Amino acid sequence: MHTYIEDAGKHDGAEITVKGWLYNSRSSGKIRFLLVRDGTGLIQCVFSARDVPAEAFALADKITQESSLEVTGKVHQDDRAPGGFELQTTNLKLIQLAENYPITPKEHGVEFLMAHRHLWLRSRMQTAILRVRAEIIRSLRDYLDDNGFVCCDTPIFTPASVEGTTTLFPVDYFGGTVYLTQSGQLYNEPICTAVGRTYCFGPTFRAEKSKTRRHLTEFWMLEPEVAFLDLDGDMDLEENLVSYMVERVLTKCREELKVLERDVTKLECVKKPFPRITYTQAVDLLQKADKDFKWGDDFGADDETQIGAAHDRPVLVHRYPAAIKAFYMKRDPLDDRLALGVDMIAPEGYGEITGGGQREDDLATLEQRIAENKLPRAAYEWYLDVRRYGSVPHAGFGLGLERCVAWICGVHHLRETIPFPRMLEKVYP
Ligand code: 4AD
Ligand code: MG
Repeated sequence: MHTYIEDAGKHDGAEITVKGWLYNSRSSGKIRFLLVRDGTGLIQCVFSARDVPAEAFALADKITQESSLEVTGKVHQDDRAPGGFELQTTNLKLIQLAENYPITPKEHGVEFLMAHRHLWLRSRMQTAILRVRAEIIRSLRDYLDDNGFVCCDTPIFTPASVEGTTTLFPVDYFGGTVYLTQSGQLYNEPICTAVGRTYCFGPTFRAEKSKTRRHLTEFWMLEPEVAFLDLDGDMDLEENLVSYMVERVLTKCREELKVLERDVTKLECVKKPFPRITYTQAVDLLQKADKDFKWGDDFGADDETQIGAAHDRPVLVHRYPAAIKAFYMKRDPLDDRLALGVDMIAPEGYGEITGGGQREDDLATLEQRIAENKLPRAAYEWYLDVRRYGSVPHAGFGLGLERCVAWICGVHHLRETIPFPRMLEKVYP
């Protein structure tokens, strides 16, 4: 019976067939050990000449790394074996003999690995990251689906910019120009007046010319948007969602976190409440640490790292200078220089993982902001309608999936957090 390796333990003493790829092999005297992976785990297959047909035994000495194969045998508990079980092999069938596999157990440079990304994904660490990513997505969707949110996806082709015009990817659209979406937010706002609480989740695009470990040109964003929510409520939602996500990974992905050698005690600290500080307090924190930072500037990667390092869990930084934030943010009624925006900064140097805030809900004010920002008014008419017909306070945010995967997995660079990353000089494979 075909059994996935992760389920082998349920069949102790029984005969199963495993289908997979050769991860590694060794021999010791007359005994052969094949380490087989199938995407769900690794299992050691053990045999000597008298256990298997002659041609199967001969195969053991010529089979190459990453060849595909089927192995049949009896499951045997052995605490020394990887995964805790081994297969006392009775037969072995080759499916395809792999050519010289380029990624050998020796160390390779990252350039080489990135050029072979389609194969690199098979390694234990990369597979563990993909599994954690999938669990993060599941947990985010579960949280919102179970709390009254309606998933309503927003378009990828858009006529206008959300997050500033410098990072747009133009696309020819039957002779005209449209842009790949930077964020679903402008569409989420009318949707939340239709369904109350909504979220979208999909790929977003930014023509970021920066070659940093925190920027991709194509990344996935989860964006909730809620009618009748203010900045404080928005921060509550972020805190609930992010603490739930971390808890889920800690319960469901223990094995993967072990493979990644992630220090889970750091993740176990991620409990509500998260500290909330104003932008001005964050500036104080930087200046006290002897950073050359002026009030009014935007935080760079190093500043975010420093703000994040001052806390053992994510920190919510709110009320930024309006001048450095997007046109749609509501101003603080107590200080017109400030916007009611909030960013969540992860600990351990992973930077900003969410960005959002309360939206401007007054028609005349928003019209003025569009003019001040020299945005093409006609492209935003429909967006202004949200303020013309029953305008309400509303708020939301965008959570960067790859930033969260990097943080939770403890992976330094975003290129390892998505199967096929897209970066400034990287669109192959
Ligand atoms: O802070 P951002 O730009 O916010 C927005 O786009 C809002 N319109 C979202 C909203 O309120 N609905 O982006 C949100 C998050 C960031 O906090 C960061 O985690 C991630 O998206 N992000 C990136 N991730 C990878 N590569 C990039 N180039 C990213 N730019 C932003
Ligand atoms: Mg941001």
